[in-house]
Amino acid sequence: MYCALIYILYALISVAGTCAIKQHNFPPLKNDNLLRAARGEPVDRVPVWVMRQAGRYLPEFQEVRKHHDFFTVCRTPELACEVTMQPLRRFDLDASIIFCDILVIPQALGMIVEMHAGVGPVFPEPLQTPADLAKLTPEGAVGRLTYVGDAITMMRHMLEGRVPLIGFTGAPWTLMGYMIEGGGSKTMAKSKAWLTDYPEDSKMLLSMLTNAIVDYLEMQVKAGAQLLQIFESSAEHLSKEDFLKWAVPYLKDIRDKLDERLKQQSIPVVPMTIFAKGAGHSLKEQATLGYDVIGLDWTVDPVEARKEVGPNITLQGNLDPQDMYKTPVEIRALTTEMVRKFGKDRYIANLGHGITPQTPIISMETLVDAVHKAI
Ligand code: CP3
Repeated sequence: MYCALIYILYALISVAGTCAIKQHNFPPLKNDNLLRAARGEPVDRVPVWVMRQAGRYLPEFQEVRKHHDFFTVCRTPELACEVTMQPLRRFDLDASIIFCDILVIPQALGMIVEMHAGVGPVFPEPLQTPADLAKLTPEGAVGRLTYVGDAITMMRHMLEGRVPLIGFTGAPWTLMGYMIEGGGSKTMAKSKAWLTDYPEDSKMLLSMLTNAIVDYLEMQVKAGAQLLQIFESSAEHLSKEDFLKWAVPYLKDIRDKLDERLKQQSIPVVPMTIFAKGAGHSLKEQATLGYDVIGLDWTVDPVEARKEVGPNITLQGNLDPQDMYKTPVEIRALTTEMVRKFGKDRYIANLGHGITPQTPIISMETLVDAVHKAI
């Protein structure tokens, strides 16, 4: 009797979970090469997308930004979708990534973040001492990010199944860094001082961020995100030892907790990518965290990376964004060489970091075409 009740309850929860996804009625995917590559299945062609593919190198993006503040674009689904669509109108890309920023989580935790032209993000009141942690508002944080879910759902419909939609978040250490430094930093001196001087408070902050990230990613999957990428862009500032101590456990927690959360609701788990810039020293360790895809920066050799991670992980990357300033002939040669080194299986072509603002449009055209023709 007791068992039967539990079974019925479980069945009800399952149905509710499946409905949470199905009710959207999204159009079927026409090009699923990205998802196939992430799952280790055969592809028709090597999929390619570019970090920051919606950005300032596109004149039409600049045009939107003339009229709207950066975070207004993020918070307005119509604008976020327009900007997300811009690179797809120009290039034969195999994925779209929802337009947003990693710093919306600190905002949802109650911090003010401004985007200053020519400077980047600025936090007028960064975290200075552990006492400032009390000012953060983790309760209900995900509820302040529903605009991202709305943009994702709208985008899935706008895409009409053309390519998959990637959702993303910043990783705990990278977000902690911005919250303490108050913006970008060349040294991360203040955040590193936190790790040494306030280890317990640092753990508390990293755990708070981990929980907010799991809620946020769950919301993105329910809204329609088909692959999730975690940006640990500030891994480059940590020694290997510190990366293993201050980044890796939280990255693992995110994957484990999200999987559990989705399974409980019978929502299919989506593939996940970890992009830990500058952590090529720990590829073996990254390969144990349960992520399907590991993103590489350009300092890592594709053949060596494959040896490190083994055959069951997909690699993503890793052309140097500065190579995009070379001639089309050179870009084509470098891209072809890169794709041949990675091979057709378990590979997603990308740059080794975000595309930079002055990149010529023809470089993107060349990159995308060269990937598709390489093998
Ligand atoms: O990839 C995409 O097309 C999706 C959009 C996206 C943006 N930011 C838009 C953006 C993504 C995935 C991000 C992630 C992000 N944001 C990261 C991780 C990736 C990385 O580059 O390491 C980080 C560290 C941030 C924080 C952030 N946002 C910084 C440091 C800056 C300033 C960068 C600069 O070059 O000035 C931003 C601003 C930002 N985010 C822009 C865009 C298109 C440019 C700002 C503008 O339009 O004025």
